Amino acid sequence: MASNQKYMIGGAKMTDSVLPAVAGPPRLWSVPMAGEARFSWDYGSDRERLLALYQKGKDRQWDSTTRISWDLAVDPSDVLGTPDEQMGIYGSRQWDKLGPAGRLTLRQHAAAWEFSQFLHGEQGAVVCAARIVESVPDMDSKFYAATQVMDEARHVEIFSRFLGEKIGLDYPINPSLQSLLGDALTDARWDMPYVAMQVLIEGLALAAFGVLRDRTTKPLPRQILAYIMQDEARHVAFGRMALRDYYPQLSRAEVADREDFIIEGCYLMRDRFRMSEVWERLGYDVGECLAYMDKGPRTRAFRSHLFSRIVPCVRDIGLWSPRVQSAFADMGVLDMASRDLDQVLRADEDAAERIDAEKREFAARRAEVAAATADGSGEA
Ligand SMILES: [Fe+2]
Ligand SMILES: [Fe+2]
Repeated sequence: MASNQKYMIGGAKMTDSVLPAVAGPPRLWSVPMAGEARFSWDYGSDRERLLALYQKGKDRQWDSTTRISWDLAVDPSDVLGTPDEQMGIYGSRQWDKLGPAGRLTLRQHAAAWEFSQFLHGEQGAVVCAARIVESVPDMDSKFYAATQVMDEARHVEIFSRFLGEKIGLDYPINPSLQSLLGDALTDARWDMPYVAMQVLIEGLALAAFGVLRDRTTKPLPRQILAYIMQDEARHVAFGRMALRDYYPQLSRAEVADREDFIIEGCYLMRDRFRMSEVWERLGYDVGECLAYMDKGPRTRAFRSHLFSRIVPCVRDIGLWSPRVQSAFADMGVLDMASRDLDQVLRADEDAAERIDAEKREFAARRAEVAAATADGSGEA
């Protein structure tokens, strides 16, 4: 059965007895193709920075089966080591009604929902990056986007394996995320997948990964998030570079059209973190949970973090009319515009390098201990 095969990636073996059957949307979603495939006969390049990014994309390819320590254990009901008070509905009437077992179930579902959306977003990224390879007019961008297709395939592989092997539960794609992906892919203009994917979805994912990477006390999700973020930082930089060069060539009306897309997309993205599918599936009072999530201080703080990459990127690519600024002000995230995106992206790349260094150091220490033990037993 198809549902029995989807977690076979990387050697994971889930069975139907572990993975509960979920009545939901069909397992295949078809989106009509729009736009044109473009060839360029101009193979010479004058875009040094884009080529440098392409070189970096090639140099930093990696294999998830060897770089990630898949043997690290994960407790499905405490995937990230999240304290109770950081759970979205902590302190609500619904939370207070739950006994210890109910809270463990909620934790597993919340993690499954979150990582499922990351997984589906990554598949969206594979498709959008492939679309960019086809439709973008210049060869340098096709080169870079081709490396991104491979990066995104790796991310799908990783999240799929993590959900199947370590959480044992999955959720369908969130309707807001699906709607944004559909809008991007059914639009014939070549820059729209960039706006939807590189600016909005990846900008938001990068921020969400960052919050969880810095918060988690668990080594496996920390590795996964940090390594994927290292790739994502390049993708956001790519979108910014491509669009910053392109938008000054457009008319005011064409720019305003992109701004409308950004505003609508940001509201969609903001609302997708309310986890209504979880409250529904667990039989909670959905309205009450959503209302609690909306007004809770944790949600407000998390939302503001979520826009830490999107807002400076939108400013940098020049979609920065008073209308866009007032939408960000309405969402309470306008102050994120003052952040230096280059610095943020560099820090995201460095975090992965630090984890690699820690792992090397740990392996060296373990080897030393093993050698000392062997010497000691030799003398005894
Ligand atoms: Fe990705
Ligand atoms: Fe990406």
